[in-house]
Amino acid sequence: MSWLIMTFRTSIGKKLMMAVTGLCFLGFLSIHLAGNLTLYWGKARFNAYAESLHSLGPLVTAAEWILLILGLVHVLTGAILFYQNLRARPVSYRVKKRAGGRTLGSATMPYTGLMILGFVLFHLINFHFTDRTDRTIYQIVHSAFHNPWYVGIYVAAMIVVAVHISHGFWSLFQTLGANHPRYMPFVERVGIGVSLIFGAGFGLIPLYLASVP
Ligand code: HEM
Repeated sequence: MSWLIMTFRTSIGKKLMMAVTGLCFLGFLSIHLAGNLTLYWGKARFNAYAESLHSLGPLVTAAEWILLILGLVHVLTGAILFYQNLRARPVSYRVKKRAGGRTLGSATMPYTGLMILGFVLFHLINFHFTDRTDRTIYQIVHSAFHNPWYVGIYVAAMIVVAVHISHGFWSLFQTLGANHPRYMPFVERVGIGVSLIFGAGFGLIPLYLASVP
């Protein structure tokens, strides 16, 4: 346990923590996206998918707790790194150069992260901690996306998720040491591809459901 505390004390240890938890989130998002894509096959498929997931019982509960812990570690470690960076550089640069991997994604990481946190809370209130006694999960999602405000919030949030992932993916490889100058431009392009898959994959669902009577 002490090695974990020692690792967390160092800056590289914190970045490693961000990388590992971020990678776990990419895994979760892949599974979540694959499950949500069943919405295109209609209510029977989506409800069957949700029921089969819930039939796993304690396994799902354990996965939810792990996800919550990973989320807390990712958010708190990110906040500490942000604060330490601010303290190390109290006066912001007058000229913000787009150099050394500095992109829209990297410059906005803490802000997009905060927005995603807000979105996830909003999302859980709407879809997870909601009364399901006389409604199926398909009805809940379908009726939510017949409200233009929800569609707007979800599409905007998915753009933010895509921007966050585009830099997170690149940063992950940097931290894990796979940062050879020859491969990083390739990693950057793959990161943009992955962020587009998640952004469009999730973002098109509300637009599609809004058109389904
Ligand atoms: C259009 C996009 C999305 C749709 C339609 C959607 C749908 C859902 C639904 C229906 C649930 C409830 C599952 C259940 O309890 O049976 C759920 C849970 C969840 N969603 Fe999403 N989701 C979307 C995007 C996202 C994104 C982008 C994130 C993360 C950034 C996310 C994170 C979560 C989390 C953490 C849970 C709780 C998981 C659990 O407790 O089992 N979702 N989502």
